[in-house]
Amino acid sequence: MEPEKIIDGKALAAALRVRVAAATARLRDEHAVIPGLAAVLVGDDPASQVYVRNKNRQTVEAGMNSLGRALPAETSEQALLEVVEELNADPSVHGILVQLPLPAHIGASAVIDCIDPEKDVDGFHLRNVGRLATGREGLVPCTPLGCMMLLEDRLGDLTGREAVIVGRSNIVGKPMAQLLLGANCTVTVAHSRTRDLPSVCRRADILVAAVGRARMIGGDWIKPGATVIDVGINRVAADEAGKTRLVGDVDFGPAMEVAGAITPVPGGVGPMTIACLLRNTVVAACRQNGIQVPDI
Ligand code: GUN
Repeated sequence: MEPEKIIDGKALAAALRVRVAAATARLRDEHAVIPGLAAVLVGDDPASQVYVRNKNRQTVEAGMNSLGRALPAETSEQALLEVVEELNADPSVHGILVQLPLPAHIGASAVIDCIDPEKDVDGFHLRNVGRLATGREGLVPCTPLGCMMLLEDRLGDLTGREAVIVGRSNIVGKPMAQLLLGANCTVTVAHSRTRDLPSVCRRADILVAAVGRARMIGGDWIKPGATVIDVGINRVAADEAGKTRLVGDVDFGPAMEVAGAITPVPGGVGPMTIACLLRNTVVAACRQNGIQVPDI
């Protein structure tokens, strides 16, 4: 294995967290502002509980205030909207995130619509979606933002590169396409109905896999030398004893042989997502206080 082929998301995320903590300390010392992030968890989905716990811990470790709420699964949509309104009105809260998925009786769109766009650190509000699509300043979804940081760290300027995204979700695929377009790539968004998906993937200088199907993308789908970003986090059986482990959407071993660079799972995109959430919270806190946004 050639270690230089592996894009070390864990290390890049740690470096980003150091920059976030430094910016947070400056905000505190020079402006008496402590960025506050409120992560709202509804119900007891175990994966969501782990994500939110990690978000809260890293928020505090960066020197920010963690002002989240955990609400029972039977919380009504109206009650959740009231919580969001309370957080919208609280000047010590600069970032609001409602963990998805929500229980089936709550409409995610209604909740996202209710979040103050200036506090929408997930970048899911229509106002931020529109800003990203039109190249205006806003808040950018954390996972695609993390992918862009990994790509630019490895490749520098992305101008003119052929990028293929597999997956068209609102959380990853679509905003990723906007960011790559904004970076002057030629962008294709492929999905489950794309004809001859392997050939489309083989065009890519940059291949972003965000489908949520374990090891779907084989080594022979990858152009030699391509940069592969694997957003997938899939739990699969590891042995007969019932142990599980995490794998990506890319079949890592064979892909390693062909790719020029590739993110591992775990330790690739995942750690960047929360680090970008912390970054977005600092950005939001600066804008809400009329402070120039630092370069982080
Ligand atoms: N669930 C899975 N990914 C995300 C995310 O980026 N933000 C929120 N709020 N929920 C998620």
